[in-house]
Amino acid sequence: MSSAWNQSVVILGTGSFAPERVMTNDDLAQLVETSDEWIRPRTGIRERRIAGENETTSDMATEAARKALENAGVAPEEIDLIVVGTCTPDMAFPNVATIVQARLGAKPGPAMDLEAACAGYPYVLDVADALMRRHGHRKALVIGADKMSSILNWNDRTTCVLFGDGAGAVVLGLEEEPGHGLIETKLGADGRDGPILCVPMMPKQAPTWPESLAFAPDTIYMNGREVFKQAVRVMGQSSQELLERNNVTSEEVKLFVPHQANTRIIEAMADRMGVSMDRFIINLDRYGNTSSASIPLALDEANRAGRLQKGDYLLMVAFGGGLTWGATLAKWF
Ligand code: UT7
Repeated sequence: MSSAWNQSVVILGTGSFAPERVMTNDDLAQLVETSDEWIRPRTGIRERRIAGENETTSDMATEAARKALENAGVAPEEIDLIVVGTCTPDMAFPNVATIVQARLGAKPGPAMDLEAACAGYPYVLDVADALMRRHGHRKALVIGADKMSSILNWNDRTTCVLFGDGAGAVVLGLEEEPGHGLIETKLGADGRDGPILCVPMMPKQAPTWPESLAFAPDTIYMNGREVFKQAVRVMGQSSQELLERNNVTSEEVKLFVPHQANTRIIEAMADRMGVSMDRFIINLDRYGNTSSASIPLALDEANRAGRLQKGDYLLMVAFGGGLTWGATLAKWF
């Protein structure tokens, strides 16, 4: 028994990967009846990256992980836990985490995927944090990776303009110095709202909510307006609750790293919390909504731009299909 509840689980390094191919709003206007004039003001998105046909979620996850390892100065052989957030795995099984483990040559420790749609990243951080403390894993890779283009209906302008592909990763380490790193994560879900944002059917399964079988059943269906309202509410509420529980004020938070779905959602949340937008990281103008990858992708950009110093508070917050949501408060190490 090697539980380590008095130690800290800290972020040792970050990495990200986005496919080469850029798809602009003008490119999309060639496919569906839309325009840059509609997309940009309503969402903040200018362009997104789209993976090649043979480029898989695990390819992107592995590249992001390699960069995170390099940034952390950690060798792949030191990694004894891998947790991946994804809703677009390469296949039903094996999971993406085991593919990454084999490719990197990591230790034969636990390797698992977790699906909480766009709220995947706070979920995987919390699971990795708990497993490290419970079992004494020393170094973990926590990855968010999604090939959203594989579940988009390219005839549905209400959804296909919103998403993109990518991956982000952090290396977590168990450290003796208490009070740093991941302080607390607050997770939540309300399954009653499942039908408003879903991919209605898996191959060879009966539909759970036949009313959601609009357009194509194996692609995203979304009631955008309803999701928008819920997103603003749950992201603001969970962030505020988390800060209050930890006696940290929003003024003390150096950086907010929100899920990148829509600039207007982030602005509404910032407004509710009374925080100016310059403390919110935004990169969805270049990537769109990359689901589980959006927080680690944005975090990697902030880290590489030197926006975080030791001791800075950082708040990551996301929501997604389920509905699921989660917020993580951390102190940069
Ligand atoms: O990670 C979680 C994932 N999802 C989200 O976070 C999405 C949350 N929701 C949103 O971001 C917004 O609701 C959207 C950006 C999806 C939509 O914005 P909206 O201001 O709520 O627009 P709407 O759905 O009310 O549509 C307004 C109009 C409609 O036309 P009519 O019925 O007024 O004639 C739509 O058909 O805009 C039309 N429309 C479009 N027009 C051009 C919808 N999508 C497009 C489009 N291009 N891509």
